[in-house]
Amino acid sequence: MAGFELDMTFLRSRRHAKWTMFGAEAIPAWVAEMDFALALPIRRAIAELSDRMDFGYPLREGGVAENAVGTAFARRMKSRFGWEIDPQLVQPVAELVQGTFAPIMAFSDPGDGIVLHTPAYPPFYEAISTLGRTLVANRLRDGARRFEIDFDALEAAIGPRTRMILLCNPQNPTGRVFEPAELARIAAIALARDLVVVSDEIHSDLVFPGHRHIPFATLSPEIAARTVTISSATKSFNIPGLRCAVMHFGTQALRDRFHERIPRRLLGAPAIVGIDATIAAWDEGQPWLDEVMDHLAANRDHLVLRVARDLPGVSFHPPEATYMAWLDCSGLKLDRPAQRFFLEEAKVAMSAGETFDPAAPHFLRLNFATSRSILDEIIDRMAAAVRRRGRMGAAAS
Ligand SMILES: Cc1ncc(COP(=O)(O)O)c(C=O)c1O
Repeated sequence: MAGFELDMTFLRSRRHAKWTMFGAEAIPAWVAEMDFALALPIRRAIAELSDRMDFGYPLREGGVAENAVGTAFARRMKSRFGWEIDPQLVQPVAELVQGTFAPIMAFSDPGDGIVLHTPAYPPFYEAISTLGRTLVANRLRDGARRFEIDFDALEAAIGPRTRMILLCNPQNPTGRVFEPAELARIAAIALARDLVVVSDEIHSDLVFPGHRHIPFATLSPEIAARTVTISSATKSFNIPGLRCAVMHFGTQALRDRFHERIPRRLLGAPAIVGIDATIAAWDEGQPWLDEVMDHLAANRDHLVLRVARDLPGVSFHPPEATYMAWLDCSGLKLDRPAQRFFLEEAKVAMSAGETFDPAAPHFLRLNFATSRSILDEIIDRMAAAVRRRGRMGAAAS
């Protein structure tokens, strides 16, 4: 058992949504959180704040504390992706969903079209509809090996009022890491059709061997000038409750355009616990993350074997990044949405496919960032439910 794995009794004893929302009978494999202990540098940073009761208006590096998140993000982007950015172009915010809503408000008007590759993270739909924008959905094609962008459909879907592409790379829920050629085609379309790109790269630290994350804004200076990159340490370092994220504008002109509509003060700032934890994660957390990635890769491969062996009728493309598996349950021919079936019959709580794409109730998103024993119990429960149903079906016929 890896040192960071947590057992079920402890996981159930805490007050977060993942392990409480579906009751004590269910094993949760839904929201994007990991069942792992935090990296020590993060725990130390939080303990130090608490021990010293250091909760006044915070300063770091001789200025307001949130600016230190910008410099930490710049260090991180350089060390991870060789991407050199100006920390002045980083706007710290509380969360990425806020970082999605705000650029949509700044760079489009009600009625304007926003491109989204579907299936997609549910709050993206919420942002587009709440703000009265028009969804320009482009469904990813289920290919032989992976999900792929249908570029002809994308070109055809973009109309005169389309203003923005909401890109999610690595993609949630399919786990795709878009390749240079795919990103270049998106970039060419953004330039030709004069679109702003909001690139959600929150999962960029969770890329498996054999794949490489390329920040969209690095494609060219012209692309940077129309790209807002949003990211945080919350998924890869397991601290979503600490509410700290960043928006990076490719140029000062883009940032100025943004602030014409969204005053800086309206964005607030992350709290000091989130700031110090994020900086500790990015600067000192990599050894922990390396170990976690080995475990996640092994869990992913184990899931591939076990689904093939024990869950006939379920299939998926092994994700290239993220700790999510996008399971296609259409072969089971279920009488209800797959999420409901497995919650009711297996007591496993996964994310419902239809929340990522209304046409995908036969899909499930399974979070495999847990211990091997919990993952095995999840699969055992699912397999038992499928077998029971098979027997009942046989008895009825
Ligand atoms: C693609 C994507 N963006 C944003 C978020 C959420 O970020 P936040 O909690 O900072 O709003 C998630 C969480 O799972 C995500 O998968």
